[in-house]
Amino acid sequence: MSASFFFWRGEKLEFQPGQTVALALEAAGQRDFGPSATGLRQRYFCGIGACQGCLVRIDDTVVEACLRPVEAGIRVEPLVAGPSVDTDGGRHD
Ligand code: FES
Repeated sequence: MSASFFFWRGEKLEFQPGQTVALALEAAGQRDFGPSATGLRQRYFCGIGACQGCLVRIDDTVVEACLRPVEAGIRVEPLVAGPSVDTDGGRHD
């Protein structure tokens, strides 16, 4: 079976069938989904579309990453452009 890929901030990441965007990002070690309009960091939290903490952009449409199934080739970007920060404090610009 061949691997499937999508793009996070232009980086090619592998995903497994059936994963949501949020699960695929977390599986790839991406816990920071970027800044929101208020500057708070977006991340995977409730997993049911209630908290809006995982909002990202896919093809310029704002979606809840925890509800959207990941698909090959989609380009996922933070809600607002800005640096990402790892939980270890490392920056990934
Ligand atoms: S994690 Fe709460 S809406 Fe997605």
